[in-house]
Amino acid sequence: MKYGHFDDEQREYVITQPDTPLPWMNYLGCQAYFGIISNTAGGYSFYRDARLRRLTRYRYNNVPLDFGGRYVYLRDDESKKFWSPSWEPTRTELQDYKCRHGMGYTAIGSTYSGIEAETRYFVPLDENLEIWQLTITNRRDTNARISAFASIEFCLWDAQDDATNFQRNFNTGQVEVEDGVIYHKTEYRERRNHFAYFACSEPSRFETQGEAFLGQYRGWDKPVSVEAGELKNSIAHGWSPMGAHQVKLDLEVGETRQIVFVLGYHENPVTEKFDPPGSQTINKKTVKPVIAKYLDAKEANAAFERLRLYWDSLLGVFQVDTPDIHTNRMVNIWNAYQCMATFNMSRSASFYESGIGRGLGFRDSNQDLLGFVHMAPVRARERILDLAATQLPTGGAYHQYQPLTKRGNNDIGGGFNDDPLWLIEGVSAYLKETGDWSILDEPVQYDNEPGSEQPLYEHLQRSIQYTLDRMGPHGLPLIGRADWNDCLNLNCFSDTPGQSFQTTTNKDGKVAESVFIAGLFVHAGRELAAIAKHRGLDAEAARYIGETEKNMRVIAEHGWDGEWFLRAYDDFGSKIGSKDCEEGKIFIESNGFCVLAGIGLEDGKAESAMKAVGKHLATKHGIVVQQPAYSRYYLQLGEISSYPPGYKENAGIFCHVNPWVMIGETRLGHGDQAHDYYSRINPSAREEISDLHRCEPYVYAQMIAGKDAPSFGEAKNSWLTGTAAWNYYAIVQWILGIRTSLDGLEIAPVIPKSWPGFTATRVFRGVVYRISIERRGDGNSIALTVDGKAIEGNVVLAPTDGRKEVVVKGILS
Ligand code: GLC
Ligand code: GLC
Repeated sequence: MKYGHFDDEQREYVITQPDTPLPWMNYLGCQAYFGIISNTAGGYSFYRDARLRRLTRYRYNNVPLDFGGRYVYLRDDESKKFWSPSWEPTRTELQDYKCRHGMGYTAIGSTYSGIEAETRYFVPLDENLEIWQLTITNRRDTNARISAFASIEFCLWDAQDDATNFQRNFNTGQVEVEDGVIYHKTEYRERRNHFAYFACSEPSRFETQGEAFLGQYRGWDKPVSVEAGELKNSIAHGWSPMGAHQVKLDLEVGETRQIVFVLGYHENPVTEKFDPPGSQTINKKTVKPVIAKYLDAKEANAAFERLRLYWDSLLGVFQVDTPDIHTNRMVNIWNAYQCMATFNMSRSASFYESGIGRGLGFRDSNQDLLGFVHMAPVRARERILDLAATQLPTGGAYHQYQPLTKRGNNDIGGGFNDDPLWLIEGVSAYLKETGDWSILDEPVQYDNEPGSEQPLYEHLQRSIQYTLDRMGPHGLPLIGRADWNDCLNLNCFSDTPGQSFQTTTNKDGKVAESVFIAGLFVHAGRELAAIAKHRGLDAEAARYIGETEKNMRVIAEHGWDGEWFLRAYDDFGSKIGSKDCEEGKIFIESNGFCVLAGIGLEDGKAESAMKAVGKHLATKHGIVVQQPAYSRYYLQLGEISSYPPGYKENAGIFCHVNPWVMIGETRLGHGDQAHDYYSRINPSAREEISDLHRCEPYVYAQMIAGKDAPSFGEAKNSWLTGTAAWNYYAIVQWILGIRTSLDGLEIAPVIPKSWPGFTATRVFRGVVYRISIERRGDGNSIALTVDGKAIEGNVVLAPTDGRKEVVVKGILS
């Protein structure tokens, strides 16, 4: 069953039933001011850091679901009936309910008793504010007297504190109201020099005290002052400061009116906080012009147009036309869009990530670059340098850093031994996209220590060295706290409830080894060798190649189980992911990544491993992490066995790692199999089973419950997942085969046999490549012509004569 449909032309998903199985979310903002918004207007906003600068309040894990939002109410001042055009929070039965989630905006509307209304929410480029444009039309055959209310509950900035420290928070809330604009200034009197505001384009009555608006013991579904039809102009002192505006409208038959609301964030220099100086009144000199500008509907519309153009240009970097609609719409629109969200948010703020827990992950953010770098290379460069500056002098890394301070997060610590290698992968992706070799000479600190600057290239050298310094008894890399699988905690041995699996280490870490890291090391080592070679460092490149070859021999000897790659050795030196194990006999990560890295392509191991994955791990809803699932808790394995079978890392379908197998299949030339795996987890291809899948059909979820779970096929944790970047990378660069390389654009499609071909446009290093691929035989060999001339091999080099557009034709046979 579906709850809406794709509108590919408008790049929207249109939800037509408000009670979706879970709140279906979208993101507002793509630079510094962000919000999440559900299809019924739930969600919240923040500036840069979802924990430390939260503007509006949201109640995670609330009953009912998804509460706190950008709520609009309409009231018929004659009949006194009121409702919300977004369904929540009043849940009135509506006609023509529609939520259009688009690129950086959401519009929600409906009709009720002849009054049509829609609110469009978006964040203009380069501004720290959001605009709500409420359009109301009287479709009755009589005039209507309507009150429109818009409301928001302020968060007292630190979301963690806001949700826990009530003895203080019930006393600190402060607001100012000037010229009808509500300013939220809690803690502005002391150490904050920022405030929030909520403004309205029409003269309004207002409310700033939560209880005055809602009424005692009432909820957002039935605010007393909406019911009464008159806001009381309350001024908040403590408790819950909020912002609400009321505008009274007399609408003639057929008349349309628009009201603009602006919710924003503003900072003042510390020395100019107050006006007049010495007073306690906010200095509003620099914020007033901004507010005035966007309350003007013309300016708001122009800002919306700029946002559209911005997305046109971002998405225009790569567009494809294949015989498969789900491939097209994910690649051209939604998957790329999701990559922007994961790049911006890492894993911090979604319906499933509370925004208080996780900073930017070192491993995660580097992988996110794979799906993002082509859209905004300048921002990718900045991110790489930020990440590298949190690297430790040992070459190791903090597992996460805080976006506001850009410093490593000590609470989570480090010692995840795969982390540093992802920096090489991230930088390599950047170099292949941009050809900007200057980044390698950029001086970057270690652990944000002034004076410790070394060229970025040295950081990469230390990353490799970090692994080389940490080899275990079999000559495989030691796993440390965990590798990609955060939950395979082989040095933890935790028997205390609540203890963190990610920071507890009870073993000295000198025994447990990871075959996955070995595969990653081979891949990253070769990437770095290619980079070294390009820099003329031949001896160094040869050394890296030597080390990867050594590792491959070790993998062949100690990392191979006969039919597939082992996963790891535990602290007792026992195998994990072997036919000899009782549970967890075979894992996806080592098999996927080793084959992706090209290990075992020559001697049949890769074929055998992919076959085993197909046989033991693949299901109709995607490929599970391991089999058999762990049926009980294993002290020596850690968090992985803490999850009930079929969920998360314990045999769930982790959509992040499925692409490793897709890529592995392309390396073996199996286009049908690769695209089949791709389609099993493609959210658009799962739209018809939305009642089972339950998450949004337009973005990937981190996990789909595996075959051991009672809810097999149900997705969770949508939006913020490495799944976005990896699936994008797998389909674009390996299945469609339009691949960036250090030298140029490589064309090597491994597509389904039934496809007659496809066309694509790729903007690469300033040149537009118009690519068409035609299938003439069943295989994957390709013959290329560039502007009509046949070329050797499959790398298209940049035109030497300054042309900005090139036609590439490929014949597959
Ligand atoms: C989560 C983490 C990621 C990790 C994965 C597997 O997605 O963000 O870093 O690799 O889980 O445990
Ligand atoms: C939990 C999750 C895992 C995630 C980790 C992040 O262990 O299962 O997916 O990577 O938390 O801290």
